[in-house]
Amino acid sequence: MELSLAGQVAIVTGGSRGIGREIALGLARAGADVVPAARSRDKLQEVVAEIEALGRRSLLIPTDVSDGEAIKDLFQQTKDELGVPQILVNNAGISPHYKSTHKVSDAEWDQVINVNLRAVFLASREMANYLIAAEIPGSIINVGSVGSTVALPRLAAYCAAKGGLLQLTKVCAIDWVKYGIRVNAVAPGFVITDMTTGMRANDRLHQNLIDHTPLGRLAEPEELVGPVVFLASGAASYITGALLAVDGGWTAL
Ligand SMILES: NC(=O)c1ccc[n+]([C@@H]2O[C@H](COP(=O)([O-])OP(=O)(O)OC[C@H]3O[C@@H](n4cnc5c(N)ncnc54)[C@H](OP(=O)(O)O)[C@@H]3O)[C@@H](O)[C@H]2O)c1
Repeated sequence: MELSLAGQVAIVTGGSRGIGREIALGLARAGADVVPAARSRDKLQEVVAEIEALGRRSLLIPTDVSDGEAIKDLFQQTKDELGVPQILVNNAGISPHYKSTHKVSDAEWDQVINVNLRAVFLASREMANYLIAAEIPGSIINVGSVGSTVALPRLAAYCAAKGGLLQLTKVCAIDWVKYGIRVNAVAPGFVITDMTTGMRANDRLHQNLIDHTPLGRLAEPEELVGPVVFLASGAASYITGALLAVDGGWTAL
């Protein structure tokens, strides 16, 4: 069993805060050089400094994943300065709208699909092309949700994107198996981050989330680190196309 990621280069989208920040630091602790990618330069700078304080290399590359050219630049700069990335965590995600499906506008739908699904395709394709050209193996981990498999009311675009992410995970896993690229997904339940601030501020909704979770609490963002490091590592060498639920039992009910 090999959990060390020493000598590998990782990109974590949405690595500036929340779950992505913890994953970026967790991959660095496991030995990887890590490039966290998100829009806010200031927050990214803090994470880059934390990664470097762990003795790993990092780069400051502010990136909007809804911009395909920005994703290309992210991979090109990473390859030029650190080497071909072998680990990609597609974690950047948004959930800005909470409304019944018939009230969702075209723009709201596109906004969520672009960040939560289209960007996963764009970044995964970029990564695969670099790995195939270099003839080296790699591991992609997509951050899904309980909404990848069950309905979350008033979150149609979010669930469509996260369900699509799961299918994309499986097809990429099969398409790229011959190149040694494993592709898996993790599906968090409800996690204490900025994304759930609004839900947690509503006492009734917060209690509903707790009551619906067999473990009886929301997750801390660092509880996603172990599953992602495991899937990135040699310890998961026979796992591809899988969805690992990290949801406190939510989808077991
Ligand atoms: N929190 C939960 O309960 C929960 C549950 C299930 C799944 N998830 C999933 O876990 C992932 C992380 O969520 P989180 O809770 O950590 O959210 P968060 O605290 O709101 O952080 C979101 C991250 O994504 C980045 N981001 C947003 N839009 C971006 C864009 N266009 N380009 C690049 N980066 C962008 C943000 O940085 P900038 O704003 O600086 O760009 C930030 O780093 C998401 O995919 C989410 O769907 C979360």
